[in-house]
Parts: sequence; C-alpha cells; structure tokens
Amino acid sequence: MTLLIAFLSVAVLSVSGLFGGGEAEAKAAAGVSYSQDIQPLLQRSCQGCHQPSSRQGGLDVTNFENLRTGGQHGASFVSGAPERSLLLAHLTGDREPRMPLGMPPLDASDIELFRKWIASGARDDSSEMATRLAGGKPPVYRQPPVITALAYSPDGGTLAVSGYREVLLHRDSDSVPDARLVGTADRIQSLGFTADGKTLMAAGGRPASFGEVQFWDVESEQLRRAVRSCHDTLFGASLSPDGTRVAFGCADHTVRIVEVATGKELLKMSHHENWVLGTVFGVDGKRIISVGRDRAAKLVDATTGAFIENVNLLKGELTAIARHPSRETVAIGGEDRTPFLYRVDKAAKMLIADSTNLLHELEKHDGEIFDLAFSPDGKTLAVSGASSRVPLYDVESGAASGACDAGHQGIYAVAFHPQGGRLAMGGFDGNVRICELDSGRTVSEFIPVPIQETLVSSR
Ligand code: HEC
Repeated sequence: MTLLIAFLSVAVLSVSGLFGGGEAEAKAAAGVSYSQDIQPLLQRSCQGCHQPSSRQGGLDVTNFENLRTGGQHGASFVSGAPERSLLLAHLTGDREPRMPLGMPPLDASDIELFRKWIASGARDDSSEMATRLAGGKPPVYRQPPVITALAYSPDGGTLAVSGYREVLLHRDSDSVPDARLVGTADRIQSLGFTADGKTLMAAGGRPASFGEVQFWDVESEQLRRAVRSCHDTLFGASLSPDGTRVAFGCADHTVRIVEVATGKELLKMSHHENWVLGTVFGVDGKRIISVGRDRAAKLVDATTGAFIENVNLLKGELTAIARHPSRETVAIGGEDRTPFLYRVDKAAKMLIADSTNLLHELEKHDGEIFDLAFSPDGKTLAVSGASSRVPLYDVESGAASGACDAGHQGIYAVAFHPQGGRLAMGGFDGNVRICELDSGRTVSEFIPVPIQETLVSSR
C-alpha cells in the first residue's frame, strides 16, 4: 500500500500544478458552510451522543432538520441570533452542561464557525454544495494517470475508470471518454455501480485533508451527493447488495457506513488497529467484512456495528478483499502475497490466528496483492498486484485456471465484465487492458483519458 501511495504522488504531480486556488476563493466567498464546516464538526464531536439510536438531551445532529428542531428544550438555534441559540450556549459553557459533554471544549475557532454560521442565517447548503463541488473543469493530462479503480455497469455497457479528480465513463474501447465526472477528490480509490445501474459510487479524497464519497446519477451525469468523511482519503469502499448503503475504510482505523439516499453516517466502527483498506458486505447485507494494515479481517454486524469474529490468520498487511457473488465466501490478500479464500457464514466461532474457516490458500502471487475480483458466475477469482501477470483461479478447487498479461507491473484494479469472458485491468502505466479469459489474450488496450498534444511538434 505504501508503494501505491508513492506511485500515485508521482503520477499526479504532472497535473496538480494546473489547479489554482479556486477552491479557497470559493470557500471564502461562501462564508461558513453547513455541509463543509458545521456538519463535519458535529460528526466528529457530537454525533456519538446525539444520533437516532442515542438522542441524549433529545437531540439528533445527524441531519439538518433534526438539528434545527433541537432537543428537550426546543430549537437548537435561532437563525441570525447566535446569542439566543441553545447550541452555542452549550458550546461556550454559558449554559450547563458544556458540550461536548465530558470532553475538552471545541477550539475557539470552531465555536466561532458555529457563531458565524448561525449569525449569517444558519442555512443548509448541502445540495447546492454538491452541485458546486462537481462540474469543475476537467483536468488536462500530459501523461495517463495511474488507474486505481475500475467498475463495469451491471449491463456491461459502461466501464468506469478512475482519473485524477474525475471518473471517466467509457462505452467504447478508445481514448475518448463518453463522460467525465469531475469532482473535488483528487484520488478515486473505489468505484461501484448500484444493481439498477442508475447510481455510480466513487470514493477517495485528498490525502491528509478529506475523504469523500460521491454518488453520481449515471444517466444525467450529475453529482447527486458528495459526503465528506474522515480527514484523509477513503479506501476500499463498497456498496451494500441492495445499493442503499456504502461502507468504507479510513486512515483513522474506522469503518463507516453511510446511507446512500441521505448521506447520513449510520455507523462508525473501531475494531481495527490501523488503516482500513478494504470492505465488503455479506450476500444479505447484514454483515460486513473489513481488512487493513493491522493484518486482520474483521466480521462485523452491519446493523449494530458489533464485532462478530476475526476471519483470518494474521499474516501481512491486508490490502484487498472481494466477496463471492452469491456465497458467503471472501478472498483476501495483501503484503504476504498469498490469496486466501475464507467462508464467513460458519457457525463455528473462530479465534484469531485460527484456520477453521479457511477454504483455500492459493499459490503465492509474484508480488504484493492490490486487488481481487470474482467472476460474475462465481467460478473464477482474479488476483492482481505488483506483478504484470494476473492469474486466474478456479474458486471451487483453488487450482490455477489461466492468466492475463497486464503488460506492465503494478495492477491496482481488475473488474470482470458482467457477461463474463473478459477482464478489465488497470494500474501504474495508466492503460486499460481488456483480457479474453479463455485465451488470455489482450483484446483491447486504450488510454482512458485524453492526452494533451504538446504545443511544440517534435517532428
Ligand atoms: C458524551 C455525550 C455527549 C456529547 C459528545 C455531546 N453531548 Fe450534547 N448532550 C449530552 C447530554 C447527556 C445532554 C443532556 C444534558 C442535560 O440535559 O443535562 C446534552 C444536551 C445537549 C444540548 C441541549 C439539548 C436540549 O434541548 O436541552 C445541546 C444543544 C447539545 N447537547 C449540543 C451538543 C453539541 C453541539 C455537541 C458537540 C460539540 C455535543 N452536544 C456533544 C451528551 C453529549
């Protein structure tokens, strides 16, 4: 993973200079924003005690309407009048008990944000902010950016490819994208379509700054919602099978679940001891399995957040996880290079470093593993990583069943075509290669972004 991050920084350097201070200017002009400034503070310092399942003082701060309605003493704020607002009085300590209860008070600058926001009318700008954050100028590339995520639409007609600050939609195998979904997250680490194909989830962020999950309306190519979370890039995001929730990992060691329809954070779980890099929901969406740098794969109840058990033997850091399309079986892999297949539905309670639920230990990969994917029929597993070779395995027997040649080393993303027979691969060199599984042949290869011609001709 460290490798991946280093690669990425190099690759985006060539384009990063093209983005000026536009964002900072826009922010200053807009004053204090509910969605960008207030909501993240509430999420971080207040939500633990003021949410639907724990409304202390009668207050729920997870959405604007409930925040406005307030708790047992009525409305949290009086628009335009910070001095008459309960919320501010509890933050400053003018009213007991001071919030956040039992914790150090918020920084004076954060309290000032609340004051300014209420003074300027306490507006909810969530939806207009989502619109403004999208639709920026598409980046200009002089070289293809590293590909970190790929996803096919359920009908197989569209391939979504991560770019720099954007997602490119390809309906044909050429360098001209059919749509460019430009957002503010520099890096897109995960992509996924809902089962109806209407919504595309893209998750990533800006390192050491913010994490973001974007929900795009595929037909209109408009950003429907952008949810900021954590203070770092989000990793390993996955949609629940019914498309109503998205889970992702954070550098703060948490796994979070957000509701797609509202953007509301439903759960925040702290079972890992290091960065979380991958998540998948179980077949019925009731459980979730996450992997991370702490070398653990954790099985957790996706409704309550309660820890169920450790799935794996502790080996190296875990980077990748994929779930079988119809069975409670997961493939995991990472630093240790060995892909493991585990079942996660067994009644037998397993202990850490136990192999009760191990189905197959596959052959060691030629390098660190970065991504794993099951074919739509559940019969084949593809393993990609530091090597240019992408081996295929028979899921039932664990035997090698073929391989694709990605043409270069460092393959961060693989995706099977929904109708089977083909595998899309992308990584360090920025090319998309499509492999025909039966023959292992590359049937198409293209650069997914438009590359700007140099002004001075070399001829
Ligand atoms: C550790 C739990 C906890 C945290 C964290 C917390 N609160 Fe509270 N909050 C409470 C409790 C308990 C009450 C009820 C206090 C009482 O009535 O004595 C309360 C009451 C309130 C009230 C008054 C509601 C009413 O109508 O009486 C406001 C406003 C409030 N909190 C805002 C916040 C804000 C803003 C934050 C974050 C900066 C925060 N709280 C963080 C536990 C918490």
